[in-house]
Amino acid sequence: MLLFVNCCISQRETESRTLKICRAFLDRYAQSHPEEEIAVEDLRERGIPNFDRNLLDERDLLMQKERFEEPIYDMARRFHDADRILVGAPYWDLLFPAELRAYIEHVSANGLCYHYEPDGCHGDCRAKKLVYITSGGGFEEKPCVPAEYWRQLCTIFGIPEFDYVFAEGVDVSPEMEEQSMRQAIQKAEELTVEM
Ligand SMILES: Cc1cc2nc3c(=O)[nH]c(=O)nc-3n(C[C@H](O)[C@H](O)[C@H](O)COP(=O)(O)O)c2cc1C
Repeated sequence: MLLFVNCCISQRETESRTLKICRAFLDRYAQSHPEEEIAVEDLRERGIPNFDRNLLDERDLLMQKERFEEPIYDMARRFHDADRILVGAPYWDLLFPAELRAYIEHVSANGLCYHYEPDGCHGDCRAKKLVYITSGGGFEEKPCVPAEYWRQLCTIFGIPEFDYVFAEGVDVSPEMEEQSMRQAIQKAEELTVEM
């Protein structure tokens, strides 16, 4: 199962550039993997609860009892079980929308998606690859902060392969947008081959 984490929150709604690149990826992926299920985690209007002290206590208690079937672990369970993961989110303030950060807090579930041993953290997610897709108004900075962030999360979660697509400069000019989107869509489609 491929899990698409859709955080393409956009004033352009369905015309979101980020979503357009994700769609190109998913269409090509569906063509080349017709037998595979594609599940969607839609974060665009979700209102994911942020963790405060009480919610953390509640989750820790469930973790100690290994009650990972409880609703608080729903997103983490789906993330853990996915064979491949696509995450799409626009480039906001050098990172991405807050809703995706809230999602990451939920999937960073100790005892389910990773665990600790004396030598450190070990990832337990099933996915063999995660691809991150974004689009930004300006040019890509190196290192690309959201891509590095996801690369390190993949290490924690035990996901061995990571790649990303950054459509840069899409607010610079219509010409730049067109060229950048074309390149981003091409790279996204190519990535489905190695997925
Ligand atoms: C709240 C917000 C924050 C943004 N922050 C940045 C930024 O830090 N750097 C940048 O290059 N573009 C930034 N942009 C521009 C978007 O990255 C760009 O327009 C992007 O293509 C939006 O994707 P979408 O078409 O999927 O909505 C920001 C846009 C918004 C709405």
